[in-house]
Amino acid sequence: MFGLFGKGKKDNQALIQPSGDRMTVKAGDNLLKAGLSAGLSWPHDCRVGSCGSCKCRLIKGKVKELSDFAYVLDGEELQSGMILACQSLLKSDVEVEVQLNPSDHDAAVVSTTPGVLESTRMLTHDIMELKVSLDKPLREQGDHYMAGQYADISFPGISHPRAYSFATAPENDKRNELTFFIRKVPNGELTGWLFEQDRTGSPVTVSGPYGSFWLREGDGPVVCIAGGSGMSSIKALLEHAANVGCERDVIYLFGARTQADLYCLDEMHALESRWNSGRSLRFVPVLSEEPDGSDWPGLRGMVTEHIVNQLKDWTSAQAYLCGPPPMIDAAMDVLRKQGISDQDIHFDKFLDASTIPGGRH
Ligand code: FES
Repeated sequence: MFGLFGKGKKDNQALIQPSGDRMTVKAGDNLLKAGLSAGLSWPHDCRVGSCGSCKCRLIKGKVKELSDFAYVLDGEELQSGMILACQSLLKSDVEVEVQLNPSDHDAAVVSTTPGVLESTRMLTHDIMELKVSLDKPLREQGDHYMAGQYADISFPGISHPRAYSFATAPENDKRNELTFFIRKVPNGELTGWLFEQDRTGSPVTVSGPYGSFWLREGDGPVVCIAGGSGMSSIKALLEHAANVGCERDVIYLFGARTQADLYCLDEMHALESRWNSGRSLRFVPVLSEEPDGSDWPGLRGMVTEHIVNQLKDWTSAQAYLCGPPPMIDAAMDVLRKQGISDQDIHFDKFLDASTIPGGRH
C-alpha cells in the first residue's frame, strides 16, 4: 500500500530487500534514521550525505532528496537508481535494496537516553573532556557501543544535536558513563556555551551509537592518523585493541599545531607499554606550527608528509583516519599511492557544523 499524501508529511512503509524487513518511516524521518531506529544494521558513517556508506537502490516508490545525491554517487550509480538513505525523505511507500550485514547487528541498535553532564576537564587550551552520566546505558545488552563509533549530544536550549566520538573503549568506563573530547569552534553555539562557564550538572540527551568506524579483522599492520579532537575515536579504538590483546603492529600519527595542542600523551605512552608483547604500538606526534628553534624533538610539518616512511611493506596494511576533511583527503591520496585499496581505508570525517547541521566539530 503506497502513501497518498507524499513529501514526507505522513508515515510511510519501507520494504527492505533482500532481507525482507519491513519498517515504518515516520513523517519527517529519513530512511536511514528509520532503519537504525528499527534496529537494522544499515551501513552508515556520516549521516549527512557526504560519505556514501548508506547508499541503497530504490526499486519502487518516490523519495525527496535532502541534498543532491550527485555529490557522492557517480553517474552509473544514479542511473541504476541508487539513493542515499540518510538524505531521503519518503514521498510514498518504498521498496529498496541494501546489503545489511547481520554480523554488524549489535552495532546498529541505537537509542536516545537522558543524563547529566557529570564533569568537564580542559585537555588543551581549546579541547575539553566531557563526562556524561546517563540514566541507563545506551544499550542494556552486549557492548553499549563499539570503540570508534560516535553519538549525538543535545543540551537544552542548543539548536540541534552535535555528533562526537566516544573517547574511551566501552569497557574502560562504567556502562552508563560516556567520555567525549570537544574542540572549541569559533562562534560555535554549543562550544561557546560549554566553554563560557562550568556547565556541570546540566541535563543532556545522548543518541547513538552511530557509525561504522571500528577496527576490522586482519593481521597486517594498522596505520592510524588523527588530528585535533580526532584523537578521541582513535584512542578508543586502540584502547579496545589493547584490552583484547590485538596481535598487530600499529603506528599512530597524530597531527597538532604546537606542543600546546598535544594531549593524552600519558595515555598513549601507557598504551605503548602494555601493547601485546611481540608487537608494537608507536605513537608519533607531528607538529605543523611549532616555532623554529623550540625544544620539540619530534617530527614537524603536516602529518600527511610523514605517512610514507612509517612502513616498509604496505601489503595487507589497514588505515584508520579521523579528523578534518582536508587531512583525511590528503592522507587518502598518500595511502592509495602506497597501494592500499579503499576497502582498507576507514575514516571518520569531522564535518563542519556551520555548513552541515549535525556535522562534527
Ligand atoms: S552519506 Fe549517508 S551515512 Fe554518509
